[in-house]
Amino acid sequence: MKIAFASCMCTRVFSDQPVWEQVAAQKPDRLVLLGDSVYLDIATPVMPQDMTDDEFAQHLYALYSELLAQKRFRALVQGLPQGSVFATWDDHDFLWNDACGASLAKQPQHRSKIALSTAFFTAYRRALALGLAPGSFPAAYNDAAFWPAHPQPLTTPSVALAPDLWLHLSDGRTHRTALWPLAERQRHLLGVAQRAQLGAAVAAAPNALHLLASGSILADYKRYPNDWQWLMQLAARQRVLALSGDIHRNELDAFFTGGWPLHEATSSGAAVKDAVVVGQARQNFGLLDVQPGEVRIELFEKGVRKQARTLLRSSWLPA
Ligand SMILES: [Fe+2]
Repeated sequence: MKIAFASCMCTRVFSDQPVWEQVAAQKPDRLVLLGDSVYLDIATPVMPQDMTDDEFAQHLYALYSELLAQKRFRALVQGLPQGSVFATWDDHDFLWNDACGASLAKQPQHRSKIALSTAFFTAYRRALALGLAPGSFPAAYNDAAFWPAHPQPLTTPSVALAPDLWLHLSDGRTHRTALWPLAERQRHLLGVAQRAQLGAAVAAAPNALHLLASGSILADYKRYPNDWQWLMQLAARQRVLALSGDIHRNELDAFFTGGWPLHEATSSGAAVKDAVVVGQARQNFGLLDVQPGEVRIELFEKGVRKQARTLLRSSWLPA
């Protein structure tokens, strides 16, 4: 099974996005989007912090509509079978740069914006899962789907892609506390409940390969010792490969846990510049080829494979 992964695309910076054609050329079976599908705080005359709820909903609607109408993105998603495209988010599609939901939710004017961005992201996920079929995304910003009476946090499903291959979609924004001025033990990235849910899902398939989809790179977890220690212990006992985004670069990494190593493949910068609006144009994506005995990871820039690593599923070490 071939799984493409990518993150960080901004229609306001690149209305044309060749990366999706480069992904399609690899003929993936699945696509995982790892955050910053839209940039709510880039190239906007009014920042989301200063918008009314109605303005914020119109802004969300405009940005998701632009992405869902992006020709090459649309062709890639429509070319995959229904139920093959998955997404999680990061700060820019959650609210704005470095937004920490657990801290912002204490402020009523931000709480209502979190409810809106969550509803929009949920609708976006649904449209992706339906292959962008007609009517799969609501037709107006004031559709009831975007204004739930009882807002719920984003779901974090665990999906069996194959009997021995699981994809876990984490949410690194809703429950994240700020770093300052909190003591380390008070800081949370995924939060207590999400850690318990993900941990149970991973432990329930002890011999499977577990892909942890994360908007943030794992280095971010180190500043959240509750989450970092939890992840180290989880990965020590089961084979975990984190797929991450955020940094507008491709990278491969691995961490010593005392048990199985924890691997990470980052692909970020599908259609942004290195600092979103300035710097070098990025067209980055990653590809996993999951075979019975090994997992081949390849990272592409402008359609050219630049990095690769093969992990043996028996030893969970590089070949
Ligand atoms: Fe980004």
